[in-house]
Amino acid sequence: MHLRCNNRTCATTLDLHERAVACPKCGDLLEVVIDAPKFEPAALKRMWLERRMSNANADTSGVWRFRDLLPGPYDPASLVTLAEGNTPLVHGLKTGQSVGLERLFFKHLGWNPTGCFKDLGMTVGMTEAKFVGAKIVACASTGNTSASLAAYAARAALEAHVYLPSGKISLNKLAQALDFGATIVQVDGNFDAALDQLLQTTNRDIYFLNSVNPFRVEGQKTVMIEMLEQFNWQVPDYVITPGGNLGNTAAFGKVLEELKEFGFIDRVPRLVVVQAAGANPFAELWRSGASEITPSAHPETVATAIRIGNPRSWRKALHSVKFTDGFVMDVTDEEIGEAKALIGLDGIGCEPASATTLAGLRKLQLQGKLNRDATVVAILTGHALKDTDYILKAHSKQHDQHLAEVPS
Ligand code: F0G
Repeated sequence: MHLRCNNRTCATTLDLHERAVACPKCGDLLEVVIDAPKFEPAALKRMWLERRMSNANADTSGVWRFRDLLPGPYDPASLVTLAEGNTPLVHGLKTGQSVGLERLFFKHLGWNPTGCFKDLGMTVGMTEAKFVGAKIVACASTGNTSASLAAYAARAALEAHVYLPSGKISLNKLAQALDFGATIVQVDGNFDAALDQLLQTTNRDIYFLNSVNPFRVEGQKTVMIEMLEQFNWQVPDYVITPGGNLGNTAAFGKVLEELKEFGFIDRVPRLVVVQAAGANPFAELWRSGASEITPSAHPETVATAIRIGNPRSWRKALHSVKFTDGFVMDVTDEEIGEAKALIGLDGIGCEPASATTLAGLRKLQLQGKLNRDATVVAILTGHALKDTDYILKAHSKQHDQHLAEVPS
Protein backbone atom coordinates (compact mmCIF):
# COMPACT_ATOMS: atom_id res chain seq x y z
CA MET A 1 0.00 0.00 0.00
CA HIS A 2 1.17 3.52 -0.70
CA LEU A 3 -0.01 7.10 -1.17
CA ARG A 4 -0.64 8.41 -4.68
CA CYS A 5 -1.44 11.82 -6.07
CA ASN A 6 -5.11 12.01 -6.95
CA ASN A 7 -4.30 13.76 -10.23
CA ARG A 8 -3.99 10.69 -12.46
CA THR A 9 -1.68 12.43 -14.95
CA CYS A 10 0.74 13.30 -12.13
CA ALA A 11 0.26 10.08 -10.12
CA THR A 12 3.31 10.75 -7.92
CA THR A 13 3.62 8.03 -5.30
CA LEU A 14 4.77 8.36 -1.71
CA ASP A 15 5.37 5.96 1.13
CA LEU A 16 2.10 5.13 2.96
CA HIS A 17 3.27 6.84 6.14
CA GLU A 18 4.71 9.99 4.57
CA ARG A 19 3.36 12.99 6.54
CA ALA A 20 1.89 14.95 3.63
CA VAL A 21 -1.62 16.24 2.92
CA ALA A 22 -0.85 17.30 -0.66
CA CYS A 23 1.23 16.01 -3.56
CA PRO A 24 4.73 17.53 -3.29
CA LYS A 25 4.88 17.84 -7.10
CA CYS A 26 1.51 19.27 -8.18
CA GLY A 27 -0.28 20.14 -4.90
CA ASP A 28 -3.35 17.95 -5.57
CA LEU A 29 -4.78 15.77 -2.80
CA LEU A 30 -3.34 12.36 -1.99
CA GLU A 31 -5.15 9.03 -1.76
CA VAL A 32 -4.29 5.64 -0.29
CA VAL A 33 -3.86 2.91 -2.89
CA ILE A 34 -5.31 -0.25 -1.36
CA ASP A 35 -3.83 -3.62 -2.28
CA ALA A 36 -6.18 -6.41 -3.38
CA PRO A 37 -7.21 -8.28 -0.22
CA LYS A 38 -5.64 -11.66 0.54
CA PHE A 39 -8.99 -13.45 0.79
CA GLU A 40 -11.83 -14.00 -1.70
CA PRO A 41 -14.85 -11.65 -1.39
CA ALA A 42 -17.16 -14.46 -0.14
CA ALA A 43 -14.70 -15.38 2.63
CA LEU A 44 -14.22 -11.75 3.65
CA LYS A 45 -17.95 -11.04 3.73
CA ARG A 46 -18.30 -13.96 6.16
CA MET A 47 -15.29 -12.88 8.21
CA TRP A 48 -16.55 -9.30 8.56
CA LEU A 49 -19.86 -10.56 9.95
CA GLU A 50 -18.15 -13.01 12.30
CA ARG A 51 -16.04 -10.20 13.74
CA ARG A 52 -19.27 -8.62 15.03
CA MET A 53 -19.48 -11.47 17.51
CA SER A 54 -15.96 -10.90 18.82
CA ASN A 55 -15.08 -8.62 21.72
CA ALA A 56 -11.54 -7.93 20.51
CA ASN A 57 -10.56 -4.25 20.29
CA ALA A 58 -10.22 -4.27 16.51
CA ASP A 59 -13.51 -6.14 16.00
CA THR A 60 -15.88 -4.08 18.16
CA SER A 61 -15.23 -1.11 15.87
CA GLY A 62 -17.50 -0.91 12.83
CA VAL A 63 -14.54 0.62 11.02
CA TRP A 64 -11.71 -1.74 11.92
CA ARG A 65 -13.69 -4.92 11.37
CA PHE A 66 -13.32 -3.99 7.69
CA ARG A 67 -9.54 -3.53 8.10
CA ASP A 68 -8.82 -5.74 5.07
CA LEU A 69 -9.75 -2.75 2.87
CA LEU A 70 -8.09 -0.12 5.07
CA PRO A 71 -4.51 1.13 5.46
CA GLY A 72 -2.35 -0.77 7.91
CA PRO A 73 -1.63 -3.15 9.36
CA TYR A 74 -1.54 -1.45 12.75
CA ASP A 75 -0.94 -3.23 16.03
CA PRO A 76 -4.52 -3.87 17.32
CA ALA A 77 -3.53 -2.47 20.73
CA SER A 78 -2.55 0.83 19.09
CA LEU A 79 -5.92 1.53 17.45
CA VAL A 80 -7.53 4.76 18.68
CA THR A 81 -11.14 3.65 18.78
CA LEU A 82 -14.40 4.44 20.57
CA ALA A 83 -16.30 1.49 19.04
CA GLU A 84 -17.51 3.70 16.20
CA GLY A 85 -19.59 2.49 13.27
CA ASN A 86 -22.08 -0.40 13.33
CA THR A 87 -24.83 2.15 12.81
CA PRO A 88 -28.30 1.00 11.76
CA LEU A 89 -30.25 1.30 8.56
CA VAL A 90 -33.62 2.67 9.64
CA HIS A 91 -36.65 2.23 7.40
CA GLY A 92 -38.25 5.57 6.54
CA LEU A 93 -41.99 5.13 7.18
CA LYS A 94 -43.80 8.49 7.00
CA THR A 95 -40.82 9.94 5.20
CA GLY A 96 -40.93 7.15 2.62
CA GLN A 97 -44.66 7.70 2.12
CA SER A 98 -44.10 11.43 1.75
CA VAL A 99 -41.96 10.84 -1.34
CA GLY A 100 -43.81 7.76 -2.59
CA LEU A 101 -40.99 5.32 -1.82
CA GLU A 102 -41.57 1.98 -0.14
CA ARG A 103 -37.91 1.29 0.21
CA LEU A 104 -36.40 4.43 1.69
CA PHE A 105 -33.75 3.77 4.34
CA PHE A 106 -31.75 6.11 6.51
CA LYS A 107 -28.17 5.14 7.26
CA HIS A 108 -27.87 7.07 10.50
CA LEU A 109 -24.27 8.10 11.03
CA GLY A 110 -25.39 10.48 13.77
CA TRP A 111 -25.52 7.42 16.01
CA ASN A 112 -21.74 7.36 16.26
CA PRO A 113 -19.81 8.13 19.52
CA THR A 114 -19.69 11.93 19.05
CA GLY A 115 -22.95 12.05 17.09
CA CYS A 116 -21.56 12.32 13.58
CA PHE A 117 -19.90 10.41 10.73
CA LYS A 118 -16.58 12.13 11.40
CA ASP A 119 -15.72 9.47 13.99
CA LEU A 120 -15.40 6.88 11.21
CA GLY A 121 -12.58 8.80 9.58
CA MET A 122 -11.12 10.05 12.82
CA THR A 123 -10.38 6.58 14.23
CA VAL A 124 -8.16 5.89 11.20
CA GLY A 125 -6.65 9.40 11.04
CA MET A 126 -5.86 9.46 14.76
CA THR A 127 -4.38 5.95 14.68
CA GLU A 128 -2.08 7.07 11.86
CA ALA A 129 -1.23 10.31 13.74
CA LYS A 130 -0.10 8.24 16.69
CA PHE A 131 1.77 5.82 14.41
CA VAL A 132 3.86 8.62 12.88
CA GLY A 133 4.60 10.09 16.32
CA ALA A 134 2.51 13.28 16.07
CA LYS A 135 2.21 15.35 19.26
CA ILE A 136 -0.41 17.89 18.17
CA VAL A 137 -3.41 17.21 15.93
CA ALA A 138 -5.47 19.99 14.35
CA CYS A 139 -8.41 20.69 12.08
CA ALA A 140 -10.59 23.53 10.87
CA SER A 141 -14.25 22.78 11.29
CA THR A 142 -17.87 23.82 11.02
CA GLY A 143 -18.21 22.00 14.35
CA ASN A 144 -18.49 18.26 13.94
CA THR A 145 -14.92 17.52 12.92
CA SER A 146 -13.70 19.52 15.91
CA ALA A 147 -15.89 17.52 18.33
CA SER A 148 -14.69 14.25 16.85
CA LEU A 149 -11.03 15.24 16.68
CA ALA A 150 -11.16 16.43 20.30
CA ALA A 151 -12.61 13.12 21.50
CA TYR A 152 -10.18 10.90 19.60
CA ALA A 153 -7.19 13.09 20.51
CA ALA A 154 -8.19 12.71 24.15
CA ARG A 155 -8.22 8.90 23.71
CA ALA A 156 -4.80 9.05 22.04
CA ALA A 157 -3.40 11.47 24.66
CA LEU A 158 -2.48 13.99 21.93
CA GLU A 159 -2.91 17.75 22.09
CA ALA A 160 -5.89 18.97 20.00
CA HIS A 161 -6.18 22.38 18.29
CA VAL A 162 -9.42 23.22 16.52
CA TYR A 163 -9.89 26.25 14.24
CA LEU A 164 -13.49 27.41 14.24
CA PRO A 165 -15.27 30.21 12.37
CA SER A 166 -16.07 32.60 15.21
CA GLY A 167 -19.79 32.67 16.10
CA LYS A 168 -20.70 30.51 13.11
CA ILE A 169 -21.01 27.04 14.61
CA SER A 170 -23.61 25.32 16.74
CA LEU A 171 -22.93 25.77 20.45
CA ASN A 172 -23.62 22.09 21.07
CA LYS A 173 -20.62 21.19 18.91
CA LEU A 174 -18.41 23.82 20.55
CA ALA A 175 -19.43 22.39 23.93
CA GLN A 176 -18.29 18.93 22.84
CA ALA A 177 -14.84 20.18 21.77
CA LEU A 178 -14.49 21.98 25.14
CA ASP A 179 -15.66 18.93 27.05
CA PHE A 180 -12.99 16.79 25.39
CA GLY A 181 -10.28 19.32 26.30
CA ALA A 182 -9.38 20.83 22.91
CA THR A 183 -7.70 24.21 22.49
CA ILE A 184 -10.09 26.42 20.52
CA VAL A 185 -8.75 28.90 17.95
CA GLN A 186 -11.52 31.31 16.93
CA VAL A 187 -11.05 32.59 13.38
CA ASP A 188 -12.68 35.72 11.97
CA GLY A 189 -14.44 34.59 8.81
CA ASN A 190 -16.00 31.35 7.65
CA PHE A 191 -14.86 27.71 7.51
CA ASP A 192 -12.84 28.30 4.34
CA ALA A 193 -10.87 31.06 6.08
CA ALA A 194 -10.30 28.81 9.10
CA LEU A 195 -9.00 25.99 6.89
CA ASP A 196 -6.76 28.38 4.93
CA GLN A 197 -5.32 29.71 8.18
CA LEU A 198 -4.62 26.21 9.46
CA LEU A 199 -3.06 24.95 6.23
CA GLN A 200 -0.70 27.94 6.21
CA THR A 201 0.67 26.98 9.62
CA THR A 202 4.30 26.01 9.29
CA ASN A 203 4.53 24.24 12.65
CA ARG A 204 5.92 20.81 11.67
CA ASP A 205 4.65 19.32 14.95
CA ILE A 206 1.05 19.72 13.80
CA TYR A 207 -0.66 16.74 12.15
CA PHE A 208 -3.64 17.82 9.98
CA LEU A 209 -6.87 15.93 10.37
CA ASN A 210 -9.29 17.58 7.97
CA SER A 211 -10.76 15.32 5.28
CA VAL A 212 -7.92 16.37 2.95
CA ASN A 213 -6.05 13.79 5.06
CA PRO A 214 -6.31 10.57 3.03
CA PHE A 215 -6.56 8.39 6.16
CA ARG A 216 -9.79 10.17 7.17
CA VAL A 217 -11.27 9.28 3.79
CA GLU A 218 -10.31 5.62 4.31
CA GLY A 219 -12.34 5.35 7.52
CA GLN A 220 -15.37 6.99 5.93
CA LYS A 221 -15.33 4.30 3.21
CA THR A 222 -16.76 1.83 5.71
CA VAL A 223 -20.19 3.52 5.48
CA MET A 224 -20.69 1.93 2.07
CA ILE A 225 -19.25 -1.47 3.06
CA GLU A 226 -21.48 -1.69 6.13
CA MET A 227 -24.53 -0.49 4.18
CA LEU A 228 -24.01 -3.21 1.55
CA GLU A 229 -23.58 -5.80 4.28
CA GLN A 230 -26.89 -4.65 5.79
CA PHE A 231 -28.55 -5.30 2.41
CA ASN A 232 -26.91 -8.75 2.23
CA TRP A 233 -24.82 -7.33 -0.61
CA GLN A 234 -27.87 -6.50 -2.77
CA VAL A 235 -26.90 -3.13 -4.22
CA PRO A 236 -29.42 -0.29 -3.62
CA ASP A 237 -30.29 1.96 -6.56
CA TYR A 238 -29.43 5.32 -5.04
CA VAL A 239 -27.34 6.66 -2.18
CA ILE A 240 -28.17 10.29 -1.42
CA THR A 241 -25.80 12.30 0.74
CA PRO A 242 -25.21 15.91 1.85
CA GLY A 243 -22.25 17.71 0.29
CA GLY A 244 -20.03 20.19 2.13
CA ASN A 245 -16.27 19.80 1.89
CA LEU A 246 -17.04 16.60 -0.10
CA GLY A 247 -14.88 14.14 1.85
CA ASN A 248 -17.77 11.69 2.21
CA THR A 249 -18.59 11.78 -1.48
CA ALA A 250 -14.92 11.14 -2.23
CA ALA A 251 -14.82 8.21 0.22
CA PHE A 252 -18.05 6.59 -0.99
CA GLY A 253 -17.00 6.65 -4.65
CA LYS A 254 -13.51 5.37 -3.84
CA VAL A 255 -14.75 2.33 -1.97
CA LEU A 256 -17.48 1.51 -4.48
CA GLU A 257 -14.79 1.46 -7.13
CA GLU A 258 -12.60 -0.80 -4.96
CA LEU A 259 -15.47 -3.16 -4.11
CA LYS A 260 -16.31 -3.51 -7.81
CA GLU A 261 -12.69 -3.97 -8.82
CA PHE A 262 -12.07 -6.64 -6.15
CA GLY A 263 -15.27 -8.53 -7.07
CA PHE A 264 -17.51 -7.80 -4.04
CA ILE A 265 -20.28 -6.26 -6.17
CA ASP A 266 -21.00 -6.19 -9.89
CA ARG A 267 -22.76 -2.83 -10.03
CA VAL A 268 -22.75 0.34 -7.92
CA PRO A 269 -25.51 2.57 -6.52
CA ARG A 270 -25.89 6.02 -8.11
CA LEU A 271 -24.46 8.69 -5.79
CA VAL A 272 -26.62 11.79 -5.46
CA VAL A 273 -25.01 14.75 -3.67
CA VAL A 274 -27.20 17.49 -2.23
CA GLN A 275 -25.86 20.91 -1.27
CA ALA A 276 -27.55 23.87 0.39
CA ALA A 277 -28.50 26.44 -2.27
CA GLY A 278 -26.56 29.19 -0.45
CA ALA A 279 -23.35 27.11 -0.37
CA ASN A 280 -23.52 25.21 -3.63
CA PRO A 281 -20.29 25.52 -5.66
CA PHE A 282 -20.32 21.78 -6.45
CA ALA A 283 -23.93 21.87 -7.68
CA GLU A 284 -23.03 24.90 -9.82
CA LEU A 285 -20.04 23.05 -11.22
CA TRP A 286 -22.26 20.08 -12.09
CA ARG A 287 -24.91 22.26 -13.76
CA SER A 288 -22.38 24.26 -15.77
CA GLY A 289 -20.17 21.33 -16.78
CA ALA A 290 -17.14 23.58 -16.11
CA SER A 291 -13.76 21.94 -15.70
CA GLU A 292 -12.82 23.85 -12.52
CA ILE A 293 -14.91 24.73 -9.48
CA THR A 294 -15.69 28.39 -8.73
CA PRO A 295 -15.69 28.81 -4.94
CA SER A 296 -18.55 30.78 -3.35
CA ALA A 297 -17.06 33.78 -1.55
CA HIS A 298 -19.95 34.13 0.92
CA PRO A 299 -21.57 30.76 1.58
CA GLU A 300 -24.73 31.08 3.65
CA THR A 301 -27.16 28.46 4.95
CA VAL A 302 -28.97 27.51 8.13
CA ALA A 303 -27.28 24.12 7.81
CA THR A 304 -24.08 25.45 9.40
CA ALA A 305 -22.27 22.10 9.03
CA ILE A 306 -22.18 22.57 5.26
CA ARG A 307 -21.69 26.34 5.10
CA ILE A 308 -18.62 25.85 2.92
CA GLY A 309 -17.67 27.83 -0.18
CA ASN A 310 -14.45 26.12 -1.26
CA PRO A 311 -14.80 22.34 -0.97
CA ARG A 312 -11.30 20.84 -1.05
CA SER A 313 -12.24 17.34 -2.19
CA TRP A 314 -14.24 18.44 -5.23
CA ARG A 315 -12.07 16.66 -7.81
CA LYS A 316 -12.28 13.35 -5.97
CA ALA A 317 -16.02 13.89 -5.44
CA LEU A 318 -16.63 14.65 -9.10
CA HIS A 319 -14.87 11.43 -10.01
CA SER A 320 -17.15 9.57 -7.53
CA VAL A 321 -20.32 11.06 -8.99
CA LYS A 322 -19.28 10.33 -12.56
CA PHE A 323 -18.07 6.80 -11.77
CA THR A 324 -21.44 5.94 -10.20
CA ASP A 325 -23.51 7.70 -12.88
CA GLY A 326 -24.87 9.97 -10.17
CA PHE A 327 -25.67 13.67 -10.06
CA VAL A 328 -25.48 16.79 -7.89
CA MET A 329 -28.32 19.09 -6.83
CA ASP A 330 -29.16 21.78 -4.28
CA VAL A 331 -32.05 22.66 -1.98
CA THR A 332 -33.13 25.86 -0.23
CA ASP A 333 -33.01 26.45 3.52
CA GLU A 334 -36.81 26.32 3.56
CA GLU A 335 -36.78 22.91 1.89
CA ILE A 336 -34.18 21.73 4.42
CA GLY A 337 -36.39 22.92 7.30
CA GLU A 338 -39.47 21.11 5.98
CA ALA A 339 -37.55 17.89 5.38
CA LYS A 340 -35.96 18.03 8.83
CA ALA A 341 -39.38 18.35 10.48
CA LEU A 342 -40.61 15.31 8.51
CA ILE A 343 -37.63 13.19 9.55
CA GLY A 344 -38.31 14.19 13.16
CA LEU A 345 -41.92 13.00 12.83
CA ASP A 346 -40.57 9.60 11.81
CA GLY A 347 -38.93 9.41 15.26
CA ILE A 348 -35.48 9.54 13.75
CA GLY A 349 -34.16 13.09 14.01
CA CYS A 350 -31.02 14.58 12.49
CA GLU A 351 -29.21 17.87 12.16
CA PRO A 352 -30.17 20.34 9.39
CA ALA A 353 -27.32 19.39 7.01
CA SER A 354 -28.51 15.76 7.03
CA ALA A 355 -32.04 16.80 6.07
CA THR A 356 -30.76 17.97 2.67
CA THR A 357 -31.15 14.30 1.69
CA LEU A 358 -34.91 14.10 2.16
CA ALA A 359 -35.25 17.65 0.82
CA GLY A 360 -33.46 16.46 -2.33
CA LEU A 361 -35.75 13.44 -2.64
CA ARG A 362 -38.85 15.63 -2.25
CA LYS A 363 -37.58 17.85 -5.03
CA LEU A 364 -36.86 14.85 -7.29
CA GLN A 365 -40.35 13.49 -6.63
CA LEU A 366 -41.94 16.84 -7.56
CA GLN A 367 -39.93 16.76 -10.78
CA GLY A 368 -41.26 13.23 -11.47
CA LYS A 369 -37.74 11.81 -11.32
CA LEU A 370 -38.23 9.25 -8.52
CA ASN A 371 -39.06 5.67 -9.44
CA ARG A 372 -41.32 4.35 -6.64
CA ASP A 373 -39.78 0.85 -6.85
CA ALA A 374 -36.27 2.16 -6.27
CA THR A 375 -34.30 1.27 -3.14
CA VAL A 376 -32.91 4.52 -1.81
CA VAL A 377 -30.50 5.09 1.08
CA ALA A 378 -30.31 8.58 2.57
CA ILE A 379 -27.18 9.25 4.59
CA LEU A 380 -27.98 11.09 7.83
CA THR A 381 -24.68 12.60 8.81
CA GLY A 382 -25.39 14.12 12.24
CA HIS A 383 -27.55 13.63 15.36
CA ALA A 384 -30.60 15.83 16.11
CA LEU A 385 -28.97 17.05 19.35
CA LYS A 386 -26.07 18.56 17.40
CA ASP A 387 -28.06 21.74 16.78
CA THR A 388 -30.83 22.19 19.33
CA ASP A 389 -30.86 25.94 18.80
CA TYR A 390 -32.08 25.38 15.23
CA ILE A 391 -34.92 23.14 16.42
CA LEU A 392 -36.03 25.51 19.18
CA LYS A 393 -35.98 28.51 16.83
CA ALA A 394 -37.92 26.63 14.14
CA HIS A 395 -40.59 25.64 16.65
CA SER A 396 -40.84 29.03 18.33
CA LYS A 397 -41.42 30.53 14.86
CA GLN A 398 -44.18 27.97 14.26
CA HIS A 399 -45.61 28.74 17.70
CA ASP A 400 -45.63 32.52 16.98
CA GLN A 401 -47.28 31.91 13.61
CA HIS A 402 -49.88 29.72 15.26
CA LEU A 403 -50.65 32.42 17.87
CA ALA A 404 -50.89 35.06 15.16
CA GLU A 405 -53.50 32.93 13.41
CA VAL A 406 -55.69 32.55 16.52
CA PRO A 407 -58.54 35.15 16.34
CA SER A 408 -58.47 37.51 19.34
N1 F0G B 1 -23.15 16.70 7.38
C1 F0G B 1 -22.61 17.07 8.53
C2 F0G B 1 -23.41 16.90 9.77
C3 F0G B 1 -21.30 17.62 8.56
O1 F0G B 1 -20.78 17.99 9.72
C4 F0G B 1 -20.60 17.78 7.35
C5 F0G B 1 -19.27 18.36 7.33
C6 F0G B 1 -21.23 17.36 6.17
C7 F0G B 1 -22.48 16.82 6.22
C8 F0G B 1 -20.55 17.45 4.86
O2 F0G B 1 -19.69 16.40 4.67
O3 F0G B 1 -17.65 17.66 4.06
O4 F0G B 1 -17.81 15.21 3.70
O5 F0G B 1 -19.14 16.79 2.30
N2 F0G B 1 -18.72 18.91 8.34
C9 F0G B 1 -17.34 19.37 8.40
C10 F0G B 1 -16.96 19.78 9.80
C11 F0G B 1 -16.90 20.25 7.33
O6 F0G B 1 -16.03 20.58 9.97
O7 F0G B 1 -17.53 19.27 10.75
P1 F0G B 1 -18.50 16.52 3.61
